[in-house]
Amino acid sequence: PSLIEMLNAYDFEAVASQVLTAEAWAYYSSGSDDEITLRENQNAFHRIWLRPRVMIDVTNVDMSTKLLGYDSSFPVYISATALGKLGHPEGEVVLTRAANTQKIVQMLPTLASCSLGEMTNARGKDQIQFFQLYVNRDRAVTERVVRSAEEKGCKALFITVDAPQLGKREKDMRVKFIADPPDIQDEKSVRRNLGAAYAISAFIDTALNWNDLEWFKSITSMPILLKGIQTAEDAVLAARHGCAGIVVSNHGGRQLDFGRSGIEILPEVVHALKNAGYEGKLEIYVDGGVRRGSDIFKAIALGAKAVGIGRPSLYAMSAYGQPGVERLLQLLKDELEMTMRLAGAKSLADIRPEMVDIRNLHDH
Ligand code: FNR
Repeated sequence: PSLIEMLNAYDFEAVASQVLTAEAWAYYSSGSDDEITLRENQNAFHRIWLRPRVMIDVTNVDMSTKLLGYDSSFPVYISATALGKLGHPEGEVVLTRAANTQKIVQMLPTLASCSLGEMTNARGKDQIQFFQLYVNRDRAVTERVVRSAEEKGCKALFITVDAPQLGKREKDMRVKFIADPPDIQDEKSVRRNLGAAYAISAFIDTALNWNDLEWFKSITSMPILLKGIQTAEDAVLAARHGCAGIVVSNHGGRQLDFGRSGIEILPEVVHALKNAGYEGKLEIYVDGGVRRGSDIFKAIALGAKAVGIGRPSLYAMSAYGQPGVERLLQLLKDELEMTMRLAGAKSLADIRPEMVDIRNLHDH
């Protein structure tokens, strides 16, 4: 189908499932274990209803915002996803270019197919990039990576904290077994054949803990945010340790299965931070399962500054390259604008908690 026939985020997923190699589709689409959390990420949004207000002049709807002080055309950013070249020969720079024309922030992954320099060189004038860090147990390597990200102009450090070990993504593992039968005698080759996720993750530091944050602050002046917070308790700890923000996220359902969806966790996190005296002090982002403008609206209503998207941008890139990602972002923007107009919100500040009905959200 032609690009113009793509009417929503799901359409790109359907095309990507056809055009990607079996290996790439398995790596991109998989969740961990029974994929309960993966499915829940979208289901949870479907348990939130809207309470629109009427008789408001919605001729002009302003979706613009600031993430950590940097302009964004609407409250969406491209989250870090590894191995972009599985989906497109040019890899992550395709996302960079699309983020630039759509004036949104891109979060660069540690495990990108492109080098950090390639991604930062592809940056447009005034374009903002954040950096996602997987902490290497060799802290000299970690320090080099962080300093390099800052030198190359990244504006924030998002430390991924939900992945001391990568989740068991069985789709991904099975494809590798078919493609390349393992030699069970050889432990190393078995690991190699456990799929893309296992192959790239062996360096991650399982000992990472709260005491390490002081060290991170000593090696960078970028604001530090934690990606993968799933409880009120940890949100408050992140605040106490001086983080500039958090991403409420379960890593797209790829890590701990039976983790709750980000959108479900968001109210408890917002409430706890407020009670602990941190209201407005941290930026709260959420990701996982965002596929519609109404999903973005719901996240904003419940206190998120912006939402991250992972798979939708990978699928759009894989299916149609840069124009695909641009169209995906434009569709999400158009959907958000329509939701705001129909709900009586002229700006993001008008999207109030009372515009969503979450009675069914926690009760299912
Ligand atoms: C991810 N995600 C991720 N997160 C991270 O911190 N470092 C990484 O390297 C990756 N890699 C990665 C690869 C792929 C293929 C996917 C799908 C996801 C998680 C990502 O940043 C984000 O949290 C989720 O993708 C959001 O959920 P949706 O939008 O995919 O539903």
